Amino acid sequence: MSFSVSPAAQLTAHDAPLLGVNIDHVATLRNARGGAFPDPVVAAQWAVEGGADIITFHLREDRRHIRDDDVSRLKAALSVPLNFEAAITDEMLDIIERTAPEHVCLVPERRQEVTTEGGLDVQGQFGRVQEACARLARAGCRVSLFIGADPVQIEAAARAGAPCIELHTGPLAHAWWDRDTSAIAREQARLLAGLRLGQSLGLRTHAGHGLALAVSRDGWPQSGLTGAAVATEPSSTAIVAAMPEVAELHIGHALVGHAVLVGLKQAIADFRAESIAARRRAT
Ligand code: PXP
Repeated sequence: MSFSVSPAAQLTAHDAPLLGVNIDHVATLRNARGGAFPDPVVAAQWAVEGGADIITFHLREDRRHIRDDDVSRLKAALSVPLNFEAAITDEMLDIIERTAPEHVCLVPERRQEVTTEGGLDVQGQFGRVQEACARLARAGCRVSLFIGADPVQIEAAARAGAPCIELHTGPLAHAWWDRDTSAIAREQARLLAGLRLGQSLGLRTHAGHGLALAVSRDGWPQSGLTGAAVATEPSSTAIVAAMPEVAELHIGHALVGHAVLVGLKQAIADFRAESIAARRRAT
Protein backbone atom coordinates (compact mmCIF):
# COMPACT_ATOMS: atom_id res chain seq x y z
CA MET A 1 0.00 0.00 0.00
CA SER A 2 1.29 3.45 -0.79
CA PHE A 3 -0.41 5.72 1.75
CA SER A 4 1.91 7.41 4.21
CA VAL A 5 2.18 7.57 7.96
CA SER A 6 3.64 10.88 9.12
CA PRO A 7 6.89 11.05 11.12
CA ALA A 8 4.74 11.56 14.21
CA ALA A 9 4.53 7.75 14.25
CA GLN A 10 7.94 7.86 15.92
CA LEU A 11 6.68 9.92 18.86
CA THR A 12 7.61 8.77 22.34
CA ALA A 13 4.95 7.10 24.49
CA HIS A 14 4.62 10.42 26.31
CA ASP A 15 3.57 12.19 23.09
CA ALA A 16 1.27 9.43 21.86
CA PRO A 17 -2.49 9.83 22.10
CA LEU A 18 -4.09 8.76 25.35
CA LEU A 19 -5.57 5.28 25.04
CA GLY A 20 -9.16 4.75 26.06
CA VAL A 21 -9.79 1.02 26.34
CA ASN A 22 -13.39 0.04 25.68
CA ILE A 23 -14.35 -3.02 27.76
CA ASP A 24 -17.85 -3.61 26.32
CA HIS A 25 -16.88 -6.86 24.66
CA VAL A 26 -15.58 -8.42 27.84
CA ALA A 27 -19.15 -7.93 29.07
CA THR A 28 -20.46 -9.41 25.80
CA LEU A 29 -18.48 -12.57 26.54
CA ARG A 30 -19.70 -12.69 30.14
CA ASN A 31 -23.31 -12.21 29.10
CA ALA A 32 -23.07 -15.07 26.58
CA ARG A 33 -23.27 -17.48 29.54
CA GLY A 34 -25.30 -15.31 31.89
CA GLY A 35 -22.80 -15.60 34.76
CA ALA A 36 -20.22 -13.29 36.29
CA PHE A 37 -17.11 -14.35 34.31
CA PRO A 38 -15.20 -12.71 32.70
CA ASP A 39 -15.87 -9.62 34.76
CA PRO A 40 -15.50 -6.37 32.76
CA VAL A 41 -14.52 -4.55 35.95
CA VAL A 42 -11.58 -6.92 36.48
CA ALA A 43 -10.71 -6.47 32.79
CA ALA A 44 -10.78 -2.69 33.30
CA GLN A 45 -8.44 -2.93 36.29
CA TRP A 46 -6.13 -5.19 34.34
CA ALA A 47 -6.27 -2.80 31.38
CA VAL A 48 -5.16 0.03 33.65
CA GLU A 49 -2.26 -2.13 34.88
CA GLY A 50 -1.41 -2.69 31.23
CA GLY A 51 -1.29 1.05 30.51
CA ALA A 52 -4.85 2.13 29.62
CA ASP A 53 -5.24 5.84 30.32
CA ILE A 54 -9.03 5.86 30.27
CA ILE A 55 -11.68 3.16 30.58
CA THR A 56 -14.48 3.51 28.06
CA PHE A 57 -17.84 1.73 28.13
CA HIS A 58 -21.19 2.14 26.42
CA LEU A 59 -24.33 1.60 28.48
CA ARG A 60 -26.85 0.82 25.76
CA GLU A 61 -30.59 1.12 26.11
CA ASP A 62 -30.92 -2.69 25.71
CA ARG A 63 -28.02 -3.41 28.14
CA ARG A 64 -26.60 -5.90 25.65
CA HIS A 65 -23.12 -5.73 27.19
CA ILE A 66 -22.41 -3.28 30.03
CA ARG A 67 -25.11 -3.25 32.74
CA ASP A 68 -26.05 -0.72 35.38
CA ASP A 69 -24.26 -2.56 38.18
CA ASP A 70 -21.07 -2.67 36.06
CA VAL A 71 -21.18 1.12 35.87
CA SER A 72 -21.34 1.59 39.62
CA ARG A 73 -18.66 -1.06 40.20
CA LEU A 74 -16.38 0.59 37.61
CA LYS A 75 -16.83 3.92 39.35
CA ALA A 76 -15.92 2.39 42.72
CA ALA A 77 -12.97 0.32 41.46
CA LEU A 78 -11.07 2.67 39.17
CA SER A 79 -8.97 5.74 39.66
CA VAL A 80 -8.31 6.53 35.97
CA PRO A 81 -10.99 8.60 34.18
CA LEU A 82 -14.12 6.78 33.06
CA ASN A 83 -15.48 7.63 29.63
CA PHE A 84 -19.22 6.89 29.69
CA GLU A 85 -20.66 6.50 26.18
CA ALA A 86 -24.40 6.99 25.97
CA ALA A 87 -27.29 8.07 23.79
CA ILE A 88 -29.04 11.33 24.62
CA THR A 89 -32.03 10.02 26.52
CA ASP A 90 -33.49 11.17 29.84
CA GLU A 91 -32.69 7.77 31.34
CA MET A 92 -29.01 7.94 30.33
CA LEU A 93 -28.57 11.56 31.38
CA ASP A 94 -30.01 10.70 34.81
CA ILE A 95 -27.64 7.72 35.20
CA ILE A 96 -24.67 9.84 34.12
CA GLU A 97 -25.55 12.55 36.63
CA ARG A 98 -25.75 9.95 39.40
CA THR A 99 -22.49 8.26 38.34
CA ALA A 100 -20.51 11.46 37.68
CA PRO A 101 -17.92 9.95 35.31
CA GLU A 102 -15.03 12.23 34.40
CA HIS A 103 -15.83 12.01 30.67
CA VAL A 104 -18.98 11.44 28.65
CA CYS A 105 -19.18 10.67 24.96
CA LEU A 106 -22.62 11.22 23.44
CA VAL A 107 -23.36 8.77 20.65
CA PRO A 108 -26.31 7.93 18.40
CA GLU A 109 -28.02 4.64 19.15
CA ARG A 110 -30.35 2.45 17.16
CA ARG A 111 -31.72 -0.68 18.80
CA GLN A 112 -31.15 -2.95 15.78
CA GLU A 113 -27.57 -1.92 15.03
CA VAL A 114 -24.68 -4.30 15.78
CA THR A 115 -22.48 -1.40 16.89
CA THR A 116 -22.61 2.41 16.69
CA GLU A 117 -23.04 2.84 12.96
CA GLY A 118 -22.81 6.53 12.27
CA GLY A 119 -21.99 9.73 14.06
CA LEU A 120 -24.38 11.87 16.04
CA ASP A 121 -26.47 14.29 13.96
CA VAL A 122 -25.61 17.38 16.00
CA GLN A 123 -26.85 19.80 13.36
CA GLY A 124 -30.20 18.00 12.98
CA GLN A 125 -30.98 17.88 16.72
CA PHE A 126 -29.04 20.92 17.77
CA GLY A 127 -31.21 22.07 20.70
CA ARG A 128 -31.27 18.62 22.27
CA VAL A 129 -27.50 18.18 21.98
CA GLN A 130 -26.81 21.68 23.28
CA GLU A 131 -29.07 21.08 26.29
CA ALA A 132 -27.39 17.73 27.04
CA CYS A 133 -23.93 19.34 26.83
CA ALA A 134 -24.95 22.07 29.29
CA ARG A 135 -26.59 19.59 31.68
CA LEU A 136 -23.54 17.29 31.71
CA ALA A 137 -21.12 20.21 32.10
CA ARG A 138 -23.11 21.24 35.19
CA ALA A 139 -22.63 17.68 36.48
CA GLY A 140 -18.87 18.16 36.12
CA CYS A 141 -18.40 15.87 33.11
CA ARG A 142 -16.14 16.64 30.16
CA VAL A 143 -18.37 16.06 27.14
CA SER A 144 -17.35 14.71 23.77
CA LEU A 145 -19.61 14.31 20.75
CA PHE A 146 -19.09 11.28 18.51
CA ILE A 147 -19.51 12.55 14.96
CA GLY A 148 -18.41 11.84 11.42
CA ALA A 149 -15.56 13.88 9.94
CA ASP A 150 -18.12 16.22 8.39
CA PRO A 151 -17.53 19.99 8.58
CA VAL A 152 -21.24 20.69 9.19
CA GLN A 153 -21.29 18.39 12.23
CA ILE A 154 -17.94 19.61 13.54
CA GLU A 155 -19.05 23.24 13.40
CA ALA A 156 -22.37 22.35 15.03
CA ALA A 157 -20.51 20.49 17.80
CA ALA A 158 -18.43 23.59 18.56
CA ARG A 159 -21.59 25.73 18.68
CA ALA A 160 -23.35 23.19 20.92
CA GLY A 161 -20.77 23.84 23.62
CA ALA A 162 -18.98 20.46 23.72
CA PRO A 163 -15.28 20.87 24.58
CA CYS A 164 -14.35 17.69 22.66
CA ILE A 165 -15.29 15.72 19.58
CA GLU A 166 -14.51 12.11 18.77
CA LEU A 167 -14.34 11.59 15.03
CA HIS A 168 -15.72 8.28 13.73
CA THR A 169 -12.90 6.23 12.22
CA GLY A 170 -15.26 3.48 11.01
CA PRO A 171 -15.04 4.42 7.30
CA LEU A 172 -11.22 4.43 7.46
CA ALA A 173 -11.23 1.15 9.40
CA HIS A 174 -13.52 -0.52 6.85
CA ALA A 175 -11.31 0.66 3.98
CA TRP A 176 -8.29 -0.71 5.84
CA TRP A 177 -9.87 -4.15 6.41
CA ASP A 178 -10.77 -4.17 2.69
CA ARG A 179 -7.15 -3.20 1.85
CA ASP A 180 -8.64 -0.54 -0.42
CA THR A 181 -5.69 1.82 -0.85
CA SER A 182 -7.55 4.69 -2.49
CA ALA A 183 -10.40 4.58 0.06
CA ILE A 184 -7.83 4.54 2.88
CA ALA A 185 -6.11 7.61 1.46
CA ARG A 186 -9.46 9.38 0.98
CA GLU A 187 -10.67 8.59 4.52
CA GLN A 188 -7.28 9.45 6.01
CA ALA A 189 -7.42 12.89 4.36
CA ARG A 190 -11.06 13.42 5.42
CA LEU A 191 -10.26 12.50 9.02
CA LEU A 192 -7.22 14.77 9.13
CA ALA A 193 -9.19 17.71 7.71
CA GLY A 194 -11.91 17.10 10.29
CA LEU A 195 -9.43 16.97 13.16
CA ARG A 196 -7.79 20.18 11.97
CA LEU A 197 -11.12 21.95 11.60
CA GLY A 198 -12.07 20.83 15.12
CA GLN A 199 -8.82 22.16 16.53
CA SER A 200 -9.23 25.46 14.70
CA LEU A 201 -12.60 25.83 16.45
CA GLY A 202 -10.96 25.26 19.83
CA LEU A 203 -12.09 21.66 20.27
CA ARG A 204 -10.05 18.82 21.75
CA THR A 205 -10.06 16.13 19.09
CA HIS A 206 -10.31 12.37 19.63
CA ALA A 207 -10.79 9.45 17.27
CA GLY A 208 -12.14 5.94 17.46
CA HIS A 209 -14.20 3.04 16.16
CA GLY A 210 -13.13 -0.08 14.34
CA LEU A 211 -9.40 0.49 14.80
CA ALA A 212 -7.20 -2.61 14.77
CA LEU A 213 -3.63 -3.84 14.74
CA ALA A 214 -2.05 -5.28 11.64
CA VAL A 215 -2.94 -8.86 10.83
CA SER A 216 -1.41 -11.04 8.16
CA ARG A 217 -3.50 -11.74 5.05
CA ASP A 218 -4.68 -15.00 6.63
CA GLY A 219 -5.75 -13.29 9.86
CA TRP A 220 -2.81 -13.92 12.19
CA PRO A 221 -2.09 -11.26 14.80
CA GLN A 222 1.39 -9.81 14.51
CA SER A 223 2.68 -10.22 18.08
CA GLY A 224 5.46 -12.77 18.09
CA LEU A 225 5.36 -13.40 14.34
CA THR A 226 8.43 -13.24 12.15
CA GLY A 227 9.05 -13.80 8.47
CA ALA A 228 6.64 -13.87 5.56
CA ALA A 229 3.41 -13.63 7.59
CA VAL A 230 4.32 -10.25 9.10
CA ALA A 231 2.21 -7.44 7.65
CA THR A 232 4.20 -4.54 6.24
CA GLU A 233 1.31 -2.08 5.91
CA PRO A 234 0.61 0.25 8.83
CA SER A 235 -2.36 -0.77 10.93
CA SER A 236 -5.50 1.36 11.08
CA THR A 237 -4.49 2.20 14.66
CA ALA A 238 -1.06 3.37 13.46
CA ILE A 239 -2.53 5.49 10.67
CA VAL A 240 -4.77 7.36 13.12
CA ALA A 241 -2.37 7.46 16.10
CA ALA A 242 0.26 9.08 13.86
CA MET A 243 -1.93 12.17 13.40
CA PRO A 244 -0.66 14.71 15.96
CA GLU A 245 -4.17 16.20 16.18
CA VAL A 246 -5.48 13.03 17.89
CA ALA A 247 -5.41 13.60 21.66
CA GLU A 248 -7.22 10.35 22.52
CA LEU A 249 -7.95 7.05 20.82
CA HIS A 250 -10.86 4.86 21.90
CA ILE A 251 -10.51 1.21 20.97
CA GLY A 252 -12.56 -1.84 21.96
CA HIS A 253 -13.56 -4.70 19.72
CA ALA A 254 -10.25 -5.37 17.97
CA LEU A 255 -8.32 -4.86 21.21
CA VAL A 256 -10.41 -7.51 23.01
CA GLY A 257 -10.18 -9.74 19.91
CA HIS A 258 -6.40 -9.33 19.90
CA ALA A 259 -6.28 -10.19 23.61
CA VAL A 260 -8.18 -13.42 22.92
CA LEU A 261 -5.70 -14.49 20.24
CA VAL A 262 -2.45 -13.44 21.91
CA GLY A 263 -3.63 -14.72 25.31
CA LEU A 264 -4.69 -18.15 24.07
CA LYS A 265 -1.36 -19.93 24.52
CA GLN A 266 -1.11 -18.74 28.13
CA ALA A 267 -4.69 -19.84 28.78
CA ILE A 268 -3.97 -23.32 27.43
CA ALA A 269 -0.80 -23.57 29.54
CA ASP A 270 -2.81 -22.57 32.64
CA PHE A 271 -5.57 -25.12 32.02
CA ARG A 272 -3.07 -27.87 31.21
CA ALA A 273 -1.06 -27.13 34.38
CA GLU A 274 -4.29 -27.29 36.40
CA SER A 275 -5.17 -30.71 34.95
CA ILE A 276 -1.68 -32.10 35.53
CA ALA A 277 -1.58 -30.81 39.12
CA ALA A 278 -5.03 -32.26 39.83
CA ARG A 279 -4.05 -35.67 38.45
CA ARG A 280 -0.83 -35.63 40.51
CA ARG A 281 -2.76 -34.88 43.70
CA ALA A 282 -5.23 -37.64 42.92
CA THR A 283 -2.64 -40.38 42.39
N1 PXP B 1 -15.80 5.25 20.15
C1 PXP B 1 -17.14 5.20 20.24
C2 PXP B 1 -17.87 6.50 20.40
C3 PXP B 1 -17.84 4.00 20.23
O1 PXP B 1 -19.18 3.98 20.30
C4 PXP B 1 -17.11 2.79 20.13
C5 PXP B 1 -17.82 1.48 20.17
O2 PXP B 1 -18.53 1.35 21.36
C6 PXP B 1 -15.71 2.87 20.05
C7 PXP B 1 -15.08 4.11 20.04
C8 PXP B 1 -14.86 1.66 19.96
O3 PXP B 1 -15.10 1.01 18.75
P1 PXP B 1 -14.50 -0.45 18.53
O4 PXP B 1 -15.14 -1.34 19.55
O5 PXP B 1 -14.89 -0.77 17.14
O6 PXP B 1 -13.02 -0.33 18.72
